[in-house]
Amino acid sequence: MSNPASIGQPLDRVDGPLKVSGRATYAAEHAFDQPPLVGWIVEATIPAGRIKQLDTGAAESSTGVAAVLTHHNAAAQTPFGDPGDEGRFTQSRAMLFDDHIRYHGFPVALVIADTLANARHAAGLIKISYEPDKDAVTTAGQEADEVPEELDGGMEPDLFQGDFEQAYNNAEVTLDVTYTTPNQAAAAMEPHAAIASFDGDELTVYMSVQLIGPAVKALANTLRFDPDKIRVLSPYIGGGFGSKLGVHNEAVLACLGALHLKRPIKVVQHRRNVFHNAPHRGSSVQRIQLGASRDGKLQAIGHESFMPMARGYEFAEPTGAPARTTYRTDALKSTHRVKSIDMPVADSCRAPGHAIGSLAFESAIDEMAYQCDQDPLAFRLANMPDKDPSTGQPFASHDLAECLREGAEKFGWQSREQQPGNRFQGRQLIGYGVASTIRVNMLVPSKTRIRLSADGTLTAWADMTDIGTGTYTILTQIASETMGLPADRINIELGDSRYPPSCGSGGSFGAASSGSALLDACENMRTKVLDIARAQSNKGDEPAENARFENGQVIWGDKTLSLTELLNKSGEAYLETDGEVEPGDDHDNYSQHSYGAQFAEVHVDRDTGEVRVQRLLGVFSAGRILNPKTARSQLLGGMVWGQSYALLEELMLDDRYGTFMNRDLAEYHLPVNRDMPAIDIHFREEPDPRSNRLGSKGIGELSICGAGAAVANAVYHAAGVRVRDFPVTLDKILEHLPE
Ligand code: MOS
Repeated sequence: MSNPASIGQPLDRVDGPLKVSGRATYAAEHAFDQPPLVGWIVEATIPAGRIKQLDTGAAESSTGVAAVLTHHNAAAQTPFGDPGDEGRFTQSRAMLFDDHIRYHGFPVALVIADTLANARHAAGLIKISYEPDKDAVTTAGQEADEVPEELDGGMEPDLFQGDFEQAYNNAEVTLDVTYTTPNQAAAAMEPHAAIASFDGDELTVYMSVQLIGPAVKALANTLRFDPDKIRVLSPYIGGGFGSKLGVHNEAVLACLGALHLKRPIKVVQHRRNVFHNAPHRGSSVQRIQLGASRDGKLQAIGHESFMPMARGYEFAEPTGAPARTTYRTDALKSTHRVKSIDMPVADSCRAPGHAIGSLAFESAIDEMAYQCDQDPLAFRLANMPDKDPSTGQPFASHDLAECLREGAEKFGWQSREQQPGNRFQGRQLIGYGVASTIRVNMLVPSKTRIRLSADGTLTAWADMTDIGTGTYTILTQIASETMGLPADRINIELGDSRYPPSCGSGGSFGAASSGSALLDACENMRTKVLDIARAQSNKGDEPAENARFENGQVIWGDKTLSLTELLNKSGEAYLETDGEVEPGDDHDNYSQHSYGAQFAEVHVDRDTGEVRVQRLLGVFSAGRILNPKTARSQLLGGMVWGQSYALLEELMLDDRYGTFMNRDLAEYHLPVNRDMPAIDIHFREEPDPRSNRLGSKGIGELSICGAGAAVANAVYHAAGVRVRDFPVTLDKILEHLPE
């Protein structure tokens, strides 16, 4: 019998062999007796307005076509966004509902045929004319003036502490700068995809979605369906990053097709679809005002955020989050304004708020350090908060300073020259940058059920998802260690709405929440097993704490009982227990975050302005690390993404047509292997008991926060050029470089 996989061990992904051998079935791959018909999305070519005429005759009689769905013949639905008092993930996501166009690329028809080629060909035969809305708005910018009801994650749009104006006006050193970040794509490897089937009673939907419970509700609301008659399955997901938190257009379209034809219908967004028909991260304008004493003590922190909001889709990103909590200050002002525009949906994208908020804020903090003639690392260390500046609450744990110090030591920060643009090697200017990393740590209600069978296996069920993060693996470790069973005797069953409701994947809360629920179920199972053992051995006096579960056995006092024998003797084929977790007082009364410090070395070419990142280093504090291998992978991904949005990523907008022009992975620039340096990752492993009983904290979105600013700050240090309009491309550097 192999050893149990304990928590904290770098266990290989348990789903790895399935994935590399093609046996992990993703949404679009589910096989039926008869192959599903295939849907092709016809996209609107105006940003806003109405469909004037729609002629589908030629398409309908084209080879292989089973149906052409439009607002004329699609099933009745609840109007988009209803009921208004529900959150965005459960409101109606009606498609092909009326003649109204919400954005360029909005689906106006679904052509369903036997093959993709036939559907695509027929789509080209559809004739559509539009009545464009002359007042379509496709950009937001700093004139955004609508106050969102709340920010993502439930934060208040406006927060004031102390007298900001007075503190800022009286400060000896002030900075007032505006940073801009562009629209960005989540660009998950697996495109958004769904297969829906309808047997006349139940609707079964295979889709790539991070939150299963809300997906069922959203489909029920959209299609006016009994939620008990909808089953959603999402066992494997090829990356989501927030763009798959909710049900997306292809899933609703596949359902409409299945209801219409009573046949399984597959709709896969092609890469160009994804850029308009899946959510993206909205652009931002961030005005940052900082005031400090001459010796570098922050006295005033101001952050004003201006972002677009897709008309009718309530989502506001909390870009002010890092400004509210990272540093101590006498006064704080943080506001968020949005502008409704006729563009594709902007929604959560990995570390909403903290990711692009830290890009701007940690750059501005860097500027302020130079204004105060301070080393950027020393300036940060001198302004560590002793309580959360936004609420006055104590921190559950706080070791940002230790991360900064340890990182500086490992990176060799002391060899850096304070003066920017002062160090070169041939034609390469060399720079070092640093940024603080902070990300809110959440716990979300979650349930699970487990079954211990007489054959010595344990199965756990939850409607949790694994978006590539390693959920199957860490849950295996938790069950294996707690029950003393080898990893290969543990079956983790996820991604089915028939399983107990879980937190789902998002907001870096997945591992802590679903893991704590599983831990609870396992502990309940241990109690149940011990009750049976006690009854069988007629001994009631041995305390439960003395029992050890090891190698499929219970070792208790002078007795060693095998779990299989114990179950056989009891006459039970299996035992079942439930587990659950709810955030408690520790989440109400403490400010909870994960932390880190990130360092970058870049070279900037004096002749071309080209930036090459030479080194990235991060020290992270995310409580107890459940699996250093999967944790490291998350941090690597976030650091790559940070470099990416600092230097490359931008959805290029043609504001006349409301369309992103670079709608593919050739033109939407992402770093490739050749662009990435070696990445050095360290953990400061301190279990945080206030986070949850596992002591872990969120890690999935941690390193994307601050990573971009560390790179941008290194570019400034190398070249003496501060680019405030992201991404920092060579043209923006070149014009300011000395001869
Ligand atoms: Mo996340 S952006 O909540 O998947």
